[in-house]
Amino acid sequence: MAVKFGRPLESRVRFAPAEKDAHTARLDLPTRLRRNRRADWARRMLREHTLTTDDLIWPLFAMDGRNARAPVPSMPGVERLSVDQIVREAERAAKLTIPCVALFPYTDPALRDEEGSEALNPDNLVCQAIRAIKKEVPEVGILCDVALDPYTSHGHDGLLHEGEILNDETVQVLVKQALVQAEAGCDIIAPSDMMDGRVGAIRKALDAANFVDVSIMAYAAKYASAFYGPFRDAVGSAKTLSGDKRTYQMDPANTDEALREVALDIEEGADMVMVKPGLPYLDIVSRVKETFGMPTFAYQVSGEYAMIMAAAQNSWLDGERAMLESLIAFKRAGADGVLTYFAPRVAEKLKKA
Ligand code: PBG
Repeated sequence: MAVKFGRPLESRVRFAPAEKDAHTARLDLPTRLRRNRRADWARRMLREHTLTTDDLIWPLFAMDGRNARAPVPSMPGVERLSVDQIVREAERAAKLTIPCVALFPYTDPALRDEEGSEALNPDNLVCQAIRAIKKEVPEVGILCDVALDPYTSHGHDGLLHEGEILNDETVQVLVKQALVQAEAGCDIIAPSDMMDGRVGAIRKALDAANFVDVSIMAYAAKYASAFYGPFRDAVGSAKTLSGDKRTYQMDPANTDEALREVALDIEEGADMVMVKPGLPYLDIVSRVKETFGMPTFAYQVSGEYAMIMAAAQNSWLDGERAMLESLIAFKRAGADGVLTYFAPRVAEKLKKA
């Protein structure tokens, strides 16, 4: 018996003969799948999935100042924006029918401390941006991260004590952060910290404070990923981060554990769940959607964006096509929507088409 790669050949999956299938076998004719692809109209008619502007959540980076924009070098085309400019982009989102923006702060390093206390300042950058958008563009939804990393001097998402990230103590702070953001007018609270039990604690606190209509989108399966690098440049935590996040974010080698994480967050009251990063984790998106049938989102993270942009700038690939192909892949895998830095660009393209 021939044994290759440690497994007997006989045990491998065998496919039906490729040249014929049940329909045409009787006629003794070859099956011609290309018939359905022969013209543009036919391809459009037979297309199984579509991407629309309604599928997009647009992440924006806020910074201090007035009328100011500063490019993020590792994310070509992405800028940090002063609050007035964030409002301009929110208006653009409304025009492009992008339903929701996600807000992240670049916190002045002088305001960062061990406990991330600026996260609880009701007048911090994120809260200012929420109020400004709600005043001028109320029809756009606002999602905010709950996690301490843009506010801590050590760059971690939680409280650090003797080299360890404390769980329950961190959750107490995250609950306060969520309340501060809800008070400012945030529509969707998105805990991205990966502490245990934070979704339930936040839901309880929101309800107790009468924020029953504020939703939770849990970063439910969030992996300890190298693809967050450019984001950490954007929020200014790349240089400060001590060590890595592997004691709280998930091991990229795990699948079943992702389902446990998602199941817990649903039990604890999440309205929507998210998988992050995106493209390298489409198997997780697909399994989560199939298993739970929950509104499921994927985050096409900064490193995924940067890879496509860098290759496009070198003319190594067609950036527009790679953007569209990467985004339809999320729909194919079962995602209900995607957080993506391509949001305005792809929305403009979809509007024109
Ligand atoms: C903060 C947070 C991160 C991202 C979103 N929220 C970074 C991290 O966990 O280190 C990454 C987003 C991106 O890379 O685009 N907890």
